Amino acid sequence: MSKKPLILGIESSCDETAASLITENEQGKPLVLSNIISSQVDVHKEFGGVVPELAARSHLEKIDWIVQKAIDVSGRKIEEIDAIASTAGPGLIVCLSVGLSFGKALASVLEKPFIAVNHLEGHALSPKLNSNLNYPYLLLLISGGHSQFLGVHSLEKYTRLGTTIDDALGEAFDKTAKLLGIEFPGGPQIEILAKKGNPNKYDLPRPIFNKGGCNLSFAGLKTAVLKITKNIKTEQEKFDLAASFQKTVKEILEKKTKIAFEEFEKQNNLKEKIFVVAGGVAANKEIRLMLIKLCKKENYQSIFPPIELCGDNAAMIAMVGLEKFKLGKFNKLDYPAKPRWPLDENAVFLKGAGVKL
Ligand code: KG4
Ligand code: ZN
Repeated sequence: MSKKPLILGIESSCDETAASLITENEQGKPLVLSNIISSQVDVHKEFGGVVPELAARSHLEKIDWIVQKAIDVSGRKIEEIDAIASTAGPGLIVCLSVGLSFGKALASVLEKPFIAVNHLEGHALSPKLNSNLNYPYLLLLISGGHSQFLGVHSLEKYTRLGTTIDDALGEAFDKTAKLLGIEFPGGPQIEILAKKGNPNKYDLPRPIFNKGGCNLSFAGLKTAVLKITKNIKTEQEKFDLAASFQKTVKEILEKKTKIAFEEFEKQNNLKEKIFVVAGGVAANKEIRLMLIKLCKKENYQSIFPPIELCGDNAAMIAMVGLEKFKLGKFNKLDYPAKPRWPLDENAVFLKGAGVKL
């Protein structure tokens, strides 16, 4: 029996410090031995968003013991690690630098290969941690910093079909929550409040609903929520607004996903139709249910990562590291932190004023 690779993954791109050890089982499937995550919610709460300098300090304070804990929990020894994979981007540069430098230093001391991982690729491949997944598949990535439809053809090979032209969906959830007086990060709370509200109470805009292919836009929605919150007086009205917001998001995603299906089918000769949803917002059960229903109707197999692997974690980073390790794809120790690192490097930048759809 040949020795299975043992990979340490490190994540520090935003406000989660995380480390994970993974290996493979006898069938060659990834096996998570430890997955340690330390969130900084308490650090940023009073500021209503992530403060980069504070986030970086917190990563610095925690990174040693998070990595040590990941090794301890795995039951393996540091000398057994075959490669170290760190997130190199995209993200906040001061935050990325912490995990990246730590990973490089450890790789250098242990004299093991270093692997630079794209955080978005981690999200994109995260369902592989619990399901058999064949390429190509259509991916909807909905997180705090990104909202995209991507064709996933293999490791490192992506075709972007659509993207947000302004806010990311997680950002829209968090901003709406903030306007409703909910502490950061409020996205998951909106889902809870929405359960008590009337989704048809407020009529909210659906920007670029009938144009722009499967590109997305959420900024107008946030502005409409801002106007309504000024007149909100009761708790019930808050619940109604949360429910109306979530309903509108579901309508936008349903319509845009249908368009993405059509485009994905046009671009690929598909043997099987697979739709993967990943990123923090994929934890939203209402959105999940709507997309599962849509997939049934359109003959797509729907795949979601387990809820605990939807948000930022290092198991997904170690997982990409494992795939790259098997292909001998290593990086030099001068690999830079990349605040911007699109999965489809050929896709046109679609943000800011003057964007034509
Ligand atoms: O993927 P992630 O952990 O971090 C980034 O890479 O951005 O995503 C975090 C985002 C936050 O905006 C958070 O509010 C949102 O995911 N989120 C949710 C839910 N859980 C997390 N949004 C809506 N409903 C949820 N249940
Ligand atoms: Zn993320």
